[in-house]
Amino acid sequence: MSDVLLLNGPNLGILGRREPEIYGTDTLADIERAVAEEVAPRGWRVIARQHDCEGALIGAIQSNYDTVGAIVNPGALMIAGWSLRDALANYPRPWLEVHLSNVWARESFRHDSVLAPLASGVIVGLGALGYRLAARALVATVA
Ligand code: DQA
Repeated sequence: MSDVLLLNGPNLGILGRREPEIYGTDTLADIERAVAEEVAPRGWRVIARQHDCEGALIGAIQSNYDTVGAIVNPGALMIAGWSLRDALANYPRPWLEVHLSNVWARESFRHDSVLAPLASGVIVGLGALGYRLAARALVATVA
């Protein structure tokens, strides 16, 4: 077991071109590289998946139970992604929820995550750095 699952949900494939004043200018490829850099010293590689559809995200989770842990930005599926929640409930390893923006400083419909109660930790509002910090947290905590 030597891979980390990096899962990004709807509308995150266009990072860099998506409301850069909110989400920054890093592309998803930049973020995937950054996470790979952080976990490389532990000999881990990254399995990076981005899907706009909830079912495909669920498939990616079910196909990767043998990973050391996961970093998940569910996008707006944080709000009502109940099937994604159930898939993460059966994911056997620690995982962290990341949001680029500070969701609590935004519209009220973004203030609750149905996923967060299952996560080992949540990082919001730190932009692309949040993914690096999540990777460091896995490196530091996964046995
Ligand atoms: C997001 C925040 C969500 O509310 C939004 O729907 C996204 C991106 C973030 O990374 O800040 O798609 O998850």
